[in-house]
Amino acid sequence: MTLGENKTQPDFKFYGRIKGVRLSDRQSNLVDKLLPQLRLDLNQPLPVGHGDVWLEIGFGGGEHLASQAINNPETAFIGAEPFVNGVAKLLVAVEENNISNLRIHDGDVRVLLPKIPDSSLSRLFLLYPDPWHKTRHRKRRMVNDETITHFHRMLKPGGVFRFASDIEDYVDWTVSVIKKHGGFDFTGKSVQDWRQAPDDWHRTRYEAKAIREGRVPSYITFKRK
Ligand SMILES: C[S@@+](CC[C@H](N)C(=O)[O-])C[C@H]1O[C@@H](n2cnc3c(N)ncnc32)[C@H](O)[C@@H]1O
Repeated sequence: MTLGENKTQPDFKFYGRIKGVRLSDRQSNLVDKLLPQLRLDLNQPLPVGHGDVWLEIGFGGGEHLASQAINNPETAFIGAEPFVNGVAKLLVAVEENNISNLRIHDGDVRVLLPKIPDSSLSRLFLLYPDPWHKTRHRKRRMVNDETITHFHRMLKPGGVFRFASDIEDYVDWTVSVIKKHGGFDFTGKSVQDWRQAPDDWHRTRYEAKAIREGRVPSYITFKRK
């Protein structure tokens, strides 16, 4: 499969960046040689069902995902990200750190979600999803009734959905979608508790920029009932 075939499907219109700046020679080489080894084959049963599996949706440059994979060698990781420059950055981290517990879906996660079996994930990360500020664009947000239903279905009872955003309106939006769904418990007693990054947090460049620009992150952990 060449790069791109796994990106999108006609069912989903993708509204983000898939291509960015030119890849370095090293990154191109990793995309050609390493990515095919790590890419999930969606026509085969997914490597879930044995031990803990954690999924990160929209991993960007992969800094958080790589750090989690390094620190939790017994856990199997899946990362989904259609932006090739982000995937290429993750591949560099995989090579440099000899990460062997990670598989990649280099495409739209909405294609992957229906393939993930029920109660197969212990953790799910959605960190700084694209904000889609304009009211008419909000339906493009990664958090919506359909995706939350998948998140709930895929997580084991007691499994964790960790969400972070620097956009207050997106935090409110997510809380209301989750409340409406009803299948998750909230952890943290007040909004103040959501200001504290989890202990095992790894700051990405995206988050560092948001903080530099004066935005305040919220970190919310939802537990599947
Ligand atoms: C604002 S960035 C945040 C990146 C990273 N999570 C971080 O915190 O640094 C949002 C990311 O979500 C990815 N994304 C957007 N739509 C997606 C989709 N349908 N499936 C998977 N990833 C998606 C984008 O390509 C982008 O890398």
